Amino acid sequence: DLDPLPPMTPEFLSVLNKVCEQCYTDFAPDELEVSVREHILRDLESFVRRQFPGARLQLFGSSKNGFGFRQSDLDICMVLEGQESIDDGNCIIIIESLARQLKKHPGLKNILPITTAKVPIVKFYHIRTGLEGDISLYNTLALHNTRLLASYAAIDRRVKILCYVMKVFAKMCDIGDASRGSLSSYAYTLMVLFFLQQRSPPVIPVLQEIYDAKKKPQVLVDGWNVYFFHDLKTLPSCWPQYAKNTETVGELWLGLLRFYTEDFDFREHVVCIRQHSRLTTFNKQWTSKYIVIEDPFDLNHNLGAGLSRKMTNFIMKAFINGRTVFGTPIKVFPPLYPSQME
Ligand code: CTP
Ligand code: MG
Repeated sequence: DLDPLPPMTPEFLSVLNKVCEQCYTDFAPDELEVSVREHILRDLESFVRRQFPGARLQLFGSSKNGFGFRQSDLDICMVLEGQESIDDGNCIIIIESLARQLKKHPGLKNILPITTAKVPIVKFYHIRTGLEGDISLYNTLALHNTRLLASYAAIDRRVKILCYVMKVFAKMCDIGDASRGSLSSYAYTLMVLFFLQQRSPPVIPVLQEIYDAKKKPQVLVDGWNVYFFHDLKTLPSCWPQYAKNTETVGELWLGLLRFYTEDFDFREHVVCIRQHSRLTTFNKQWTSKYIVIEDPFDLNHNLGAGLSRKMTNFIMKAFINGRTVFGTPIKVFPPLYPSQME
């Protein structure tokens, strides 16, 4: 059980808020960096087309969802024009042949095909920018969840800032690398969105539950319904809670740490951003796992499935320490950052 937190002070809350805002201003890419990513993409596409004339490349992940860092990897999805989908066998063959082609590109190095993963990819390193990237094939659901995340980011700037804070926190605590047994950035972003939906009053709606028709529209991709409300201009009139929550980012960040350490029962509940009502691990038959995060479209996909017991404890400890550190007011002068002296 957790120790109660000492009373918060307005001064400390104000510093907390500035630190959160600073995560965003320090790490968000500027317009130039965004256009560099598009430029690399176009260059790669024309190079890949020498081998696969119908190839189309598209960026997804944090290059497009609104939560990108300057050094975030380039997540690229490739499809072949006139071909709807691809089977596992062909996917591996194309990934290997794509890797051979990319090895001839003078601007790239460290080309590495990974064909054993759930989603086969070719990894690469872009020499001039120092960016890493990977290309996957027909990763269509990822394109849709990227659009969903981008829509949430566009609703309220606090969404964006909190997702940055969460990613910085995960990196600093070394709990944000799925390839090393922890959780992906994507999983942490879902945790932030879920918290913001469950906050009272909520900061964001459940976009997958807003529609004017009697029944939820069906837009099927790989067998899953990827419908969500994206006409954000009309959101104020469609969602009665719009702009009701007026908390600062600092308050929300502390609220998030308290939510996941004090309120949310990981043993029983699922982090689930597609519906507002509670979803339980029992409903999903995912009771053997401790941190359960349901993908918003691929409902069989638990983002926490790869966590060991040890790693789960390590992540929970990071949240508990975070709650103490951010929830305990300290004497805040002199300023933490030179920029706060203004
Ligand atoms: N993705 C997914 N399922 C996962 C992991 C990732 O669908 N289990 C998709 C998501 O669309 C995600 C994208 O792959 O946005 C890229 O994943 P990742 O690079 O881990 O996250 P980013 O959001 O790109 O964050 P980062 O800035 O750390 O690269
Ligand atoms: Mg990425």
